[in-house]
Amino acid sequence: MKPILEQLDDKRAAARLGGGEKRIAAQHAKGKLTARERLDVLLDPGSFEETGMFVEHQCADFGMDESKIPGDGVVTGSGTVNGRLVYVFAKDFTVFGGSLSLAHARKITRLQETALKNGAPIIGLFDAGGARIQEGVDALGGYAEIFQNNVLASGVIPQISVIMGPCAGGDVYSPAMTDFIFMVKDTSYMYVTGPDVVKTVTNEIVTHEELGGASVHAKKSGVADGAFSNDLEALIQMRRLIDFLPLNNRNKPPVREVYDDPARVEPSLDTLVPPNPNKPYDIRELIQKTADEGDFFEIAPDYAKNIVVGFGRLEGQTVGFVANQPLSLAGVLDIDASKKAARFVRFCDAFEIPIITFVDVPGFLPGTRQEYGGLIKHGAKLLFAYAEATVPKLTVITRKAYGGAYDVMASKHLRGDVNYAWPTAEIAVMGPKGAAEIIFRRDMDDPEKMAEHVKDYETRFANPFVAASRGYLDDVIQPRNTRVRLIKALRTLRDKKLTNPWKKHDNIPL
Ligand code: HXC
Repeated sequence: MKPILEQLDDKRAAARLGGGEKRIAAQHAKGKLTARERLDVLLDPGSFEETGMFVEHQCADFGMDESKIPGDGVVTGSGTVNGRLVYVFAKDFTVFGGSLSLAHARKITRLQETALKNGAPIIGLFDAGGARIQEGVDALGGYAEIFQNNVLASGVIPQISVIMGPCAGGDVYSPAMTDFIFMVKDTSYMYVTGPDVVKTVTNEIVTHEELGGASVHAKKSGVADGAFSNDLEALIQMRRLIDFLPLNNRNKPPVREVYDDPARVEPSLDTLVPPNPNKPYDIRELIQKTADEGDFFEIAPDYAKNIVVGFGRLEGQTVGFVANQPLSLAGVLDIDASKKAARFVRFCDAFEIPIITFVDVPGFLPGTRQEYGGLIKHGAKLLFAYAEATVPKLTVITRKAYGGAYDVMASKHLRGDVNYAWPTAEIAVMGPKGAAEIIFRRDMDDPEKMAEHVKDYETRFANPFVAASRGYLDDVIQPRNTRVRLIKALRTLRDKKLTNPWKKHDNIPL
């Protein structure tokens, strides 16, 4: 038996070496970890159970029959993150540039099917050159089967993609259909067609970084939900993110033991909103002072900064925070902010994560750029997302809630469960000055009269009590008590049951 057993050990050792020492050294020289090293960081020590270690491609074209490497460019399997099951695949750039053959694709589709059956998230680590060029249509078909599974798994299990090297051609669309995409700064890039093709087709000369680096996707295009400094930081942050998420849409999000007092009051919040209504403040401060232990995992922090979204906890239970950010464009809703928040709200709703909305919004951004870009349809995405969400929805208006944006931001009228306002809230069709200029246009040439009209409008609407008197707010609360009141409200909503009418699926404005 001994030689047979030793043969297995040798085969395993060979497979673990991937494309060999030289290619591993090249990977390290670029500042990147190998596929297996990445999984070591991502998963709990010793928890990785590999599948398909000996899978090889079946291609005989272009001399490929003489070049087979066990594993075929992707390492797949399951493991745990803080004791909770996850399925993982990591593209191995040292093997045929991580390119996708039919056999490679089948390893991933099998993993997707298993994860879906067993109800656990999938984390994919990307570092690859796209379709295995030698395989032709087999590779294209393999991609399509992965895409199909991405769609079937969407809303059933969380799917996370981390781009840690090149990600081109067929490799971009699978991440695009997952819930979150993260990138590593300077060593990763993502595009449908690379700089060479761009040059041939459009004569445009761009670098990999300019075309699809983390700086592009985490800031400009919004394709990526975050960018980290290196492989290690990215993987450690993925462990942190997974801790906030349920394993699947039938499980509640995990409740973690926390040491923060649910009765903690925050007197500093009483002065968060500046006396001057046009002065900004950082809404993140409110989120951090509300969440357990100030722990907030922000999604897309560098894109559409006028809205802040991310995960935190209240009494150990995961919640999603959505908050207008007065520090950026006065917290206005524009195309990018609407899309960013809508997608986050839909994720929370799909996975039973209660949504806490902090509102300080002067309205939708006016102008031709926004209107030509389809603000109507994009703004409607956020409206649609909030309106269809059946998870607990808790809202606090801190200052401005003007116009359509008041409606959109989880108002009572969109089945908001508990809606509070701070005494500094102003709920109106628009700001006092704009309102007076429209309804008292006849007095435009009389500054004294106009000032009086503005004052009148302010007295009438620049407070939360008109809305409260109509029952559109459940209460006006002291800012210092925000955490306490939200926690108490959330307790009443633990067993909330609300379903939408039966339908095959909705038709959200795209
Ligand atoms: C086969 C590939 C490959 C591929 C890389 N390799 N990409 N082999 N198919 N797609 C191999 C290389 O031949 C090389 O092998 C090894 O991987 C490392 O690649 P290098 O080019 O030396 O690495 P680097 O200089 O870092 O460049 C990385 C890269 C480049 C930018 C990703 O390899 C590249 O441009 N690859 C092709 C990208 C591409 O056009 N893919 C097809 C997209 S079309 P050796 O043995 O020489 O070391 C597509 C359609 C699917 O994906 C559509 C579905 C919807």
